[in-house]
Amino acid sequence: MDKAALFKISYGLFLAGTATEEKENACIINTVMQVTSIPARVTLALQKRNLTHDLIIKKGSLALSILAQDCPLDTIAAFGLKSGRDVDKFLNVKYKTDGNKNPYLESESTAMLSLSVFDSRDMGTHTMFFCDVLDALLFNDKKPITYDLYRELKSGGKTEAAAISSAKKAEWVCSVCHYKYDGEIPFEELPDSYVCPVCKQPKSVFVKV
Ligand SMILES: Cc1cc2nc3c(=O)[nH]c(=O)nc-3n(C[C@H](O)[C@H](O)[C@H](O)COP(=O)(O)O)c2cc1C
Repeated sequence: MDKAALFKISYGLFLAGTATEEKENACIINTVMQVTSIPARVTLALQKRNLTHDLIIKKGSLALSILAQDCPLDTIAAFGLKSGRDVDKFLNVKYKTDGNKNPYLESESTAMLSLSVFDSRDMGTHTMFFCDVLDALLFNDKKPITYDLYRELKSGGKTEAAAISSAKKAEWVCSVCHYKYDGEIPFEELPDSYVCPVCKQPKSVFVKV
C-alpha cells in the first residue's frame, strides 16, 4: 500500500475550540466533513492524546473556526504544534466565544460553526465525533484555507534556494498527525526508536511524499 496516496484526499483546516470550567483550549484539525444538510451534521476526528480531545468529551460541544487563506502560519503552528497541556494557547490571542462559551477565532477565519456532539466512535488512535450544527456565522467572503495550500505556504516561506533544495529532497510526513520531518539528519538514517515529536507515534507510521 502506498500511503502517500492518502495525502491526495483534500481537506480544509480548522480550529476546534472548547472550554470547560477549568480550561479553555483549541487545536488545529483537518478531519472535518459535512455529512447531512437537514439537519446540518458534521464529523471530525481528534487524536486521543490531544487535550482538546479530552475537553470535547467532557464538554460535549465545541466551536469550529473555518480558517481563511490569510490565516497566519504562526497561528496554525501555535495551535497545531503545541499542546494546551504545556502552554496557554489563548494567552495574548484575540478570540470570541459562541453560545456555549467555546472559543473561536474571527479575524483568522471565514466562518464559524457551533457544534454539539451527539455520538462518537472509537477509531483507534482517534475518536470520531458526530456533531449537530447548532449555529453558523459567516464572517466574510474570504476563501477557506486547504491543507494542501497550508503545506505550499509553509515551503514558500523559505528562501528560494531552500525551497529548491527541499523540493528535490523527499519529504517524510507522519501519517497520523501530518507532522513534516525537517531535521538535519536524513530521515532514513534516523534510528528505529525515533518517534514523531508531535504525536509520539513510531518511525514506521511516516510516509514519503
Ligand atoms: C495541519 C495540521 C492538521 C492537523 N489535523 C489534526 C486532526 O485532524 N486531528 C487531530 O487530532 N490533530 C490534528 N493536528 C494535530 C493537533 O493540532 C496537535 O496535536 C495539537 O498540538 C493538539 O493540541 P492539544 O493537546 O492542545 O489539543 C493537526 C495539526 C496540523 C498542524
